[in-house]
This record gives sequence, structure tokens and C-alpha cells, in this order.
Amino acid sequence: MNRVYNFSAGPSQMPLEVLKRAQEEIFDYAGTGTSIMEMSHRSPAFMNVLKETKDTLRRIMEIPDDYEILFLQGGATTQFSMIPMNFADRKDTVAYIDSGRFASLSCKEAKRWCNAITVASSKDDGYSHIPEVKPSDIPSDAKYLHITGNNTVYGTTYNRPIEHGNIPLIADWSSAILGKWIDVKDYDMIYAGAQKNMGPAGVCVVIIKKSLVKDNIDDVVPTMYSYAKQIESDSMYNTPPCWSIYMCGLMAKWVEDQGGIRAMEEINRKKASMLYDYIDNSRIYRNNVNRSDRSITNVTFVMESEEMTADFLKLCKENGLINLKGHKAAGGLRASIYNGMPVEGVEKLIEVMKEFERNV
Ligand SMILES: Cc1ncc(COP(=O)(O)O)c(C=O)c1O
Repeated sequence: MNRVYNFSAGPSQMPLEVLKRAQEEIFDYAGTGTSIMEMSHRSPAFMNVLKETKDTLRRIMEIPDDYEILFLQGGATTQFSMIPMNFADRKDTVAYIDSGRFASLSCKEAKRWCNAITVASSKDDGYSHIPEVKPSDIPSDAKYLHITGNNTVYGTTYNRPIEHGNIPLIADWSSAILGKWIDVKDYDMIYAGAQKNMGPAGVCVVIIKKSLVKDNIDDVVPTMYSYAKQIESDSMYNTPPCWSIYMCGLMAKWVEDQGGIRAMEEINRKKASMLYDYIDNSRIYRNNVNRSDRSITNVTFVMESEEMTADFLKLCKENGLINLKGHKAAGGLRASIYNGMPVEGVEKLIEVMKEFERNV
């Protein structure tokens, strides 16, 4: 086996223990003689996987009983459409904070449906900080305020409470969920594409306060897009992504075995500060993000030229460090260091960064 350290923003590196457990169970899940990939989603064995995955998430995230957990398809991107369709009528206003690429895409989708407005943006400074918003900036009749908790592309995150007054708060926490403590009670809905920190691609986890869910949404909304319908059928209105849900369950159990989310956060903070400390003291690498808004799961940095960046990426690859190129919208470099990235991976990256710096 020749594993490399994979710094991809997603799909991303998973803990070897989780992959090995999946390997052990792939042909014969729990004595059923079939793989999770082959069994009916209505079978007792799979129903139990679904229940256990939900129970584990509920325990580790301390999800209160008045919130539902859904496993939906179409990625976090489909949530960009489902959210306005479920919580706003065509003439209603909904509010968005524009803190990066996916924040702006989520607002763009909402605009197709209703009056979606941007109440704060950091676009003008290249999304290098989290914009401030006061409750008075949000129209009092807005059906919700939407934020992107962690901006995967730019490496920024909310490290402070969001002032939203009485307006329901909805957050896309795709790239930090399970990697840092998020108090579910602070939100009316949280969602996350699993492929960063929760499991493989193919499922989006939605945690939603039951009181927010409406039965009487517009008839034109497809059934699959109705939260009420998805809750009623326990994420099984159609065939759910069984394998992805099973893997999410293994990942959540692994987080629990490591001591839970707060323990993961401690490790993630350590990894991130090792990297930021080195970058801040180096001659050739620079992080352009407002310090108090720095993400602990996506660390972005730049070098003085594209040529130098390409040479650095080459050296990384030779040393078994892959997917460090920044998103095309931001350029530069990005190390995504989710739960599955061990401290040793970050140590190795710093070692290679030092070697490169010594030789330029
Ligand atoms: C914060 C955030 N939101 C949404 C998305 C889109 O997710 P998906 O590809 O699951 O639709 C991404 C993808 O990287 C993301 O980082």
C-alpha cells in the first residue's frame, strides 16, 4: 500500500481505520452475506445503519430532539435551491452574507426563486475576511439569513457569533462540520456535503429544526425538494445513497472514538497553527486572510509567482503530498486539513515547505 497525504478540499483523505473497516465489511455486512452496496434500503440491516448513523451524529453533535437529520442527494448545491423553495414564497425576501464562492452561488440560486438579497459582502477585498453584519442590516421580513460557515476556497470561517436577531439562521458548514464545535442550537438549519469531513461524496447531511419545516410549500416544488416529504419518509422517499450513509456512520463513530468533536477541534487547531505559524514567519509563503477569520480546516497561501508555485507543487508531489493547488477562483495554494489528515501529514508538508524555501 502506498498512501500519500491528500490535501484535497473534497473529496478528501479519510482515516485509514475507517477505510479498513469498510474493506472488512464490504463483502459481507454484519453476517448478512451481502454488501451494503447490494442490500435493499428497506432491509432491517440497512435501516439499522441509517438509525445508527443518525444516533451517532446526534450524540457527537449534541443535536436536540426538535431537530431532524436528513441524508439527501445532489450535494450541498441542491440545498442552495431547496432552502428558498421550502422557506420562502415567490415574493418573499431572504438574506445572504456573501463571504466567498459558495456563499455567492447559494444566493444566485435563491434569486431564481424569490427576492434574495446580499446584506454583507467581502467580495471587494477578494473575500479575505468575514463581513460584519448587524441585525439592523437584515430586513425584518426576511424569511431567513443564510451564511457559509467555512469558506473552503478562501480559507475563512466564522470565529464569532452571528447576530441575526429573530431571523432564522441557516448555515452551510460543509467544510468544517465535525472538525470544530458548532452549537446546533445556534442555528435553525445546518447542512454539509459529506465529502470533506463526514464521508464520501454522494450525500448531503441536513440538520433542520422541525418547527421551521412547512407542509404547504408551492405546488411546483418537486417532491424530492420538500423537507416535509423527506422528513416524513426518513430520507427514503426514493432510494437513498446507502453506501455514502454507511460511510458517514463509520466516520461519525470514528470521531466519537477519538474523543468527539471538541477533541478533533483541538487536533485541527494544532495542525492549523503549526502551518499558519510557519507561513507567517517565512520569506516566501504568505497567507492573505484576516487573522481572526482564519479557517482551521482550509489553509490558503500564496507565493510570489506562478512559476514558483508550480515548482513547489512539483516538489510536494515528489514527496507524496498531493492536491495543494488552490481553487481556480482564488489561485495560489491551499492545504485542506480535515479530520482525516493526521498531524504527521502537516509536519511533512512543513518539512517540504522548508526545504523549498532553503533552496530559493
Ligand atoms: C462550503 C461549500 N458549500 C457547497 C459546496 C458545494 O458542494 P457539493 O459539491 O456537495 O454540491 C462546496 C464544495 O466544495 C463547499 O465547499
